[in-house]
Amino acid sequence: MAAGGGSDAAETNSLSCVRCGKPAHLQCPKCMELKHPREGAAFCTQDCFKASWSSHKSVHLKAKLLGTGAAGGSDRASEGWLYCVKKGQGRTPQLPHFDWTGALRPYPISGMRSVPAHIDLPDWAVDGIPKIEPNSDLQHVVEVKSLDQIERMRETCRIAREVLDAAAQAIRPGVTTDEIDRVAHEATIAAGAYPSPLNYHFFPKSCCTSVNEVICHGIPDARKLEDGDIVNIDVSVYYKGVHADLNETYFVGNVDELSHQLVQCTYECLKKAISIVKPGVRFREIGEVINCHAVMSGFSVARSYCGHGIGELFHCAPNIPHYSRNKAVGVMKAGQTFTIEPMINAGVWRDRMWPDGWTDVTADGKRSAQFEHTLLVTETGVEVLTARLPSSPNMFPWLNA
Ligand code: MF3
Ligand code: CO
Repeated sequence: MAAGGGSDAAETNSLSCVRCGKPAHLQCPKCMELKHPREGAAFCTQDCFKASWSSHKSVHLKAKLLGTGAAGGSDRASEGWLYCVKKGQGRTPQLPHFDWTGALRPYPISGMRSVPAHIDLPDWAVDGIPKIEPNSDLQHVVEVKSLDQIERMRETCRIAREVLDAAAQAIRPGVTTDEIDRVAHEATIAAGAYPSPLNYHFFPKSCCTSVNEVICHGIPDARKLEDGDIVNIDVSVYYKGVHADLNETYFVGNVDELSHQLVQCTYECLKKAISIVKPGVRFREIGEVINCHAVMSGFSVARSYCGHGIGELFHCAPNIPHYSRNKAVGVMKAGQTFTIEPMINAGVWRDRMWPDGWTDVTADGKRSAQFEHTLLVTETGVEVLTARLPSSPNMFPWLNA
């Protein structure tokens, strides 16, 4: 509805005008559509409606950003902290009912963070729907990148690494994953990049934070990290027309021995998988290497999410499963870029999805860890585009030996 347009305001009864308090006979049509409380949207006349318009219209925008007009009574809800109940749908003030697999629960999620106008946006940023990605030929053929594309991938991957490092340094007991997201968001924007997850298929935050039994795609929220937790931070950024994607799992304070082994084993799984990458190797071999090391260590490999091609598209061919006897097609060629991102579980490989449509957890509630890099196949082997930098924080005890 255009500013000032109120000619289609609907009839109402026994309410007072928001502007002057006289009996109200009109209701803002946009508020009705958004199912806002009627008391906040009632006006006596077209004149009062028009006079209120410049301030009243912000109510609609806020509701749009929060994904709901039905903010419940709690303080957090009035500040825009709500549960994300279902992908792409409105968020609610109540905890949804679910047969939770472990001790972790969803906490309220803050409103979407804003991106300054000078930052170049991917095509889902405004309405939540990727348009080029699902229809591209690059879902079927694996692109060999040009030198120009490769140079842009290097720059973008370096930014993603620096963003992840900044987010990692914010980890300590008592910090919320929302705060981690704020750090990642601000570091991304300071580098002139867009945080790729933000509004991707309506994902509400700028990175993923996956705690304990969360396998992947955890939504940053108001839960405080606790001593003994493990937390994966997954950062993706879009810069100069290309995406970069990496993640690492970190210890919060002191963790138990099994968690230490799980996280170290997952790090090694990724390292071993990267070590076989070179032209001529079958994509399906990656899953054999990862599965072998995970099972040998007494762990299992999550199967629902795979590595993926990446470049001008966030997710494209090839699809790279991390488990053995997979059916991935094709062999690696110099100039291809893709991720490897094994998710290793302490217990069963099976997963369950939370009602928010994003958070993927282990079916038995035991812990899961993940590491991810974006890679370039070279003539002689592989270049880890998202490799650690000399400035990267020292988070992994096994790298100090
Ligand atoms: N880095 C994640 C992956 O490759 C993508 C997270 S964006 C999200 O799976 F919106 F899907 F969460
Ligand atoms: Co990825």
